Amino acid sequence: APNGGAAQSGRKGTVRSLVGSSRPALANILIGDSTDPVCESVFRSRGHAVDFKPGLSKEELLSIIGKYDGLVVRSGVQVDEDLITAAKNMRIVGRAGTGVDNINVPAATSKGVLVMNTPGGNTVSTAELTMSHILALARNIPQAVSSMKEGRWDRKKYTGTELMGKTIGVVGLGRIGREVATWCMNFGMHAVGYDPILTDDAALAAGIEPVSLDELFACSDFITLHTPLTPETKGLIGRSNLDKCKKGVRIINCARGGIIDPVALVDALNLGKVAGASLDVYPSEPPPPELKELVTHPKVVCSPHLGASTQDAQVRVAKDIAIQMCDVLDGGEYVGV
Ligand code: NAD
Ligand code: MLT
Repeated sequence: APNGGAAQSGRKGTVRSLVGSSRPALANILIGDSTDPVCESVFRSRGHAVDFKPGLSKEELLSIIGKYDGLVVRSGVQVDEDLITAAKNMRIVGRAGTGVDNINVPAATSKGVLVMNTPGGNTVSTAELTMSHILALARNIPQAVSSMKEGRWDRKKYTGTELMGKTIGVVGLGRIGREVATWCMNFGMHAVGYDPILTDDAALAAGIEPVSLDELFACSDFITLHTPLTPETKGLIGRSNLDKCKKGVRIINCARGGIIDPVALVDALNLGKVAGASLDVYPSEPPPPELKELVTHPKVVCSPHLGASTQDAQVRVAKDIAIQMCDVLDGGEYVGV
């Protein structure tokens, strides 16, 4: 499964057979993206050597990766086939976070490299950011703040909309999606949701009305996206599905940028079909010049991929991934695989 397979089902087991018991106990670990210092401390306390080198270029990474047994990343390092091929001694890649779409999991698996993530470690932070985006979008807060800082007093221009009584459509009812749905219901919203895996009974037990994707598009005042980026979700919010939405729908994306077709979204914003969009993630990050029209659009609220950027979540995921990887290297139990 895209976000870590067994990690989502909480599978546990031993991996002695996977990592090999004849290897030396001490491993060489590279931390390739910026993580909380607790990550490095855990590896050291368990007897492993660690290099903390965030921000290396692809060429630099390719030239040094061969000497490492383990690699820790967030979303910066692209763990593609080239890197995996060059990583001759690699045994584990750990994602200090949820989405593993920056890791070529099939290529890693074919080389016997275990891929792990830390499901759940940043759920609350990302759900809270999503709520901030929903409220900011409903009340035009970022635009109003900018206008005041520019010396204006535009009370009428920034008239917003209430959440109470409106319908929120949640696409992807996993950890974050369900958390967001619950908070939206606490604001008096009606929550409908679509998830091909979750049973209707489980959705109903969470207070969410299970609907088809087409029904969700037709009835939602706000649509919030919480799926992984997969071939099925890439470009999901494109021209044809936007046509199925209510006029004046507001769209929030704190999952993965590639789920929205940016050109179709800009057109829908210009036509008034979409009243506003609030984005934390982009098809390519940082957004290249061709996304400038989207990012600078007056009806778009944006943040630079801050979903998991709280001290709480960063300490949690950095610690969790180091413990999980150490457990594997020590031939113990594993989670998040
Ligand atoms: P999760 O695995 O708990 O939930 C994902 C859900 O999406 C699952 O229930 C799955 O069945 C569902 N899904 C898969 N394909 C679908 C489809 N085609 N249509 C509808 N639903 C589908 O994951 P999560 O922890 O809730 O994370 C969700 C997303 O948020 C991931 O893409 C993750 O990478 C992203 N994320 C972003 C940030 C950020 O910083 N903005 C932080 C954490 C997670
Ligand atoms: C994730 O999938 O966990 C997020 O994108 C957060 C991060 O970048 O670490």
